[in-house]
Amino acid sequence: MTGIQDSDPGPAQSAQSAQSARPYDVVLFGATGFAGGLTADYLVEHLPSSGRMALAGRNRDKLEAVRDRLTGINPDVSEIGLLHADSTDPGSLAEVARSAKVVITTVGPYLEYGAGIVAACAAEGTDYVDLTGEPEFVDRMFVENDATARKTGARIVHACGFDSIPHDLGALYTARLLPGDVPIEMRGVVRTNATMSAGTLHSALNQFSRLRPLKEASSQRHEIETRPTDRRAKLKTERPRRDPVTENWLIPLPTIDGQIV
Ligand SMILES: NC(=O)c1ccc[n+]([C@@H]2O[C@H](COP(=O)([O-])OP(=O)(O)OC[C@H]3O[C@@H](n4cnc5c(N)ncnc54)[C@H](OP(=O)(O)O)[C@@H]3O)[C@@H](O)[C@H]2O)c1
Repeated sequence: MTGIQDSDPGPAQSAQSAQSARPYDVVLFGATGFAGGLTADYLVEHLPSSGRMALAGRNRDKLEAVRDRLTGINPDVSEIGLLHADSTDPGSLAEVARSAKVVITTVGPYLEYGAGIVAACAAEGTDYVDLTGEPEFVDRMFVENDATARKTGARIVHACGFDSIPHDLGALYTARLLPGDVPIEMRGVVRTNATMSAGTLHSALNQFSRLRPLKEASSQRHEIETRPTDRRAKLKTERPRRDPVTENWLIPLPTIDGQIV
């Protein structure tokens, strides 16, 4: 915050004071889906008793069923609000963004359904978190909303799921243990028996079919983004191979993790 005077609260502080008057701390958009249902369960188990939460979605009956299930997990959260939100209705997305300090969205594929709520959060100074694994979406959202979000103080954070929290934190943790003044090469390996949810499969197929727009979004972002001058990071792609360290076969997955790291 160097250079910001007390009399000039700056976008982040202004956003915080604007946010404090909002009816909900957290609004979860997409709780009627698979990943959203898991997120909702986690939230009601961990939300402080003073926390104010709402579920947003396009189908009221489904939202009520989710709320009933959540009240069974934690009766203290019977006050959970329900908000109408449809990705095809920008007015409903603006209303959701205005009513929350932070919006969590699990509505995907994000390239199809996600842009509106990012724009609404950027415009309203609302913090935003998603589960996307679609690199084109992340780059496009940067190009379209970074300037607005900087003005309003909204913090837009993508890829907060399995893609890419373990990889990002794993790389950060490792980098902190290594010397900072010499080039380092880091390799990450994850062993998983996970299967893809329907939404993940849909999103992956969608992104794989859009190689040209993916490249275009990436170069548009590179044209406007200010990059760090004190360090450079390069992603290396590797072939399937038997790894002498773990003695397992390793298969590179075309995920967003490298980009996020
Ligand atoms: N990063 C990760 O590790 C990770 C992990 C899992 C999933 N994901 C991503 O999360 C996303 C969701 O996956 P999922 O398996 O949970 O999908 P899903 O079960 O199909 O759920 C999709 C959700 O989106 C809602 N939705 C769809 N169209 C909408 C619209 N026009 N307006 C409002 N809501 C709409 C659905 O509401 P209705 O119930 O009304 O249809 C549902 O709540 C995917 O993009 C997936 O790739 C990421």
